[in-house]
Amino acid sequence: MSNEIVTNKSVTFVNNTTPVTITSSELDLTSCYQDDEVVIEIHAAALNPIDFMTHQLCNSYIFGNYPKTYSRDYSGVIIKAGKNVDNRWKIGDKVNGMYNHIYGERGTLTHYLILNPAKDVPITHMVEVPKEANDPYDDFVYAAAWPLTFGTAFSTLNDFKKDWNSDSKVLVIGASTSVSYAFVHIAKKYFNIGTVVGICSKNSIERNKKLGYDYLVPYDEGSIVENVRKLKQSVLENDRFDMIFDSVGNHDFFPVIDQFLKPKVKNSFYVTIAGNNKVNYKNISWRDFISLGSILTALNPFKKYNWRLGHPYPSNNFIEAGNEMIKKGTYKPPIDSVYEFEQYKEAIDRLMSNRAKGKVVVKMK
Ligand SMILES: NC(=O)c1ccc[n+]([C@@H]2O[C@H](COP(=O)([O-])OP(=O)(O)OC[C@H]3O[C@@H](n4cnc5c(N)ncnc54)[C@H](OP(=O)(O)O)[C@@H]3O)[C@@H](O)[C@H]2O)c1
Repeated sequence: MSNEIVTNKSVTFVNNTTPVTITSSELDLTSCYQDDEVVIEIHAAALNPIDFMTHQLCNSYIFGNYPKTYSRDYSGVIIKAGKNVDNRWKIGDKVNGMYNHIYGERGTLTHYLILNPAKDVPITHMVEVPKEANDPYDDFVYAAAWPLTFGTAFSTLNDFKKDWNSDSKVLVIGASTSVSYAFVHIAKKYFNIGTVVGICSKNSIERNKKLGYDYLVPYDEGSIVENVRKLKQSVLENDRFDMIFDSVGNHDFFPVIDQFLKPKVKNSFYVTIAGNNKVNYKNISWRDFISLGSILTALNPFKKYNWRLGHPYPSNNFIEAGNEMIKKGTYKPPIDSVYEFEQYKEAIDRLMSNRAKGKVVVKMK
C-alpha cells in the first residue's frame, strides 16, 4: 500500500510559560492508527474554560515539556478505521463527542484525531439540528458545540437527586453560562422540573427569560442573597430549593444555606462545577481550585447539607439524551461565535472574556 502523507496541524502549548501556537506534524494515513482505532478528520472543535485553565496551570516540572493539544469537544468524519473496530463506526460516518484528556498529546483542536471508539467515549453519530431559514451554522458547528457542557449539566441533574417532579425547585447561580443553558433545558424539558430560578447580570435577564427560567434575579444590582430571598417570599411561598447549582464559583449562600436549601433528609443538594470562588480567567492559579474554604466545605462532616463537586468528566449516557433532545427540538446547542482555525487566538480571547453567550467554536474545514 502506498503512503498517504498529510500534514496534521494542531493548536498546542508546552507549559504555562509558552504561548498557544500551531504545530505541524506529518501523518501517514495508511499506518498512523492501530487496529482498534479510527482516524477522524475534524471539521469543528469547541472551546471550554478547562482548555485555557489547564494551559495556565501547566507546570513544566510536573507535566513535561512536550506539545499538549488544546480542546475536548469535536465533530468530524471518520476517514480510516482499523480492522478490529466495531462496525458501528464506518468510513464516511459523521461523528461527534468529547475526547477526554488532561495534557494529552492528542486533543481536538487538530485536523486529524486518532481515537479508540470503544474506549474514548462519549462518541456518537451526529444528529441533524432543526434549523431556521438562514441559519448561519452547519451541523458540524452545532455537533461540536454541546458534548462537554451538556454532559456536565445532565450528570448534575441525573446523578445526585433522583426524585425530580413538577414541585421541585432549583436555583442556578450563573444562569448565562453554556453549562446552565443546557441545565435549564434539561431541567424543564427532560426532568420536568417545576421551577428553575436563575441568577445572571441584569443585562442578560431578557435573553435568559427565553431559555425557560421561571424567574431571574440580577447579581449586579444589590445583594444576591437578598434578591433571591425577596423572590422566594413573593412568588415561591417562601419554599426552599431542592438543588442549588453553581456554574460560576460563589459562596454567598453558605452562611444562610438552611434558609435557601431544603434539609438533607429531603435529598437536596448544593452542586458546584466551578469551586466556591469566581476564578479570574486571565490569572488562574491552583489556589483558586484548592482553596482552604473549598476543602473545608467538602470535608466538613458536620455540615448540614449535601455538597457535591460536579463531575469533571460525566460518565453517564448523556450523549443519547442529548441526541434525543436535539432531534425533538427541545435543545439547540447555543453558539456565541465561530472562528477559522488560524483565528484560534481570537477564539480563546473571546472565551476568556467571560462574556460569551453560548459556545465558541473553531472550524477546521
Ligand atoms: N464538569 C465540570 O466540572 C465543568 C464542565 C464545564 C464547565 N465547568 C466550569 O463551569 C464554569 C462555566 O463554564 P461555561 O463554559 O458554561 O461558561 P461560559 O459559557 O463561558 O460563561 C460565560 C457567562 O458567564 C456569565 N458570568 C460571568 N461572570 C459572572 C458572575 N460573576 N456571576 C454569574 N455569571 C457570570 C456571563 O453572563 P452574565 O451576563 O450573566 O454575566 C457570561 O455570558 C467554568 O468555571 C468552567 O470551568 C466545569
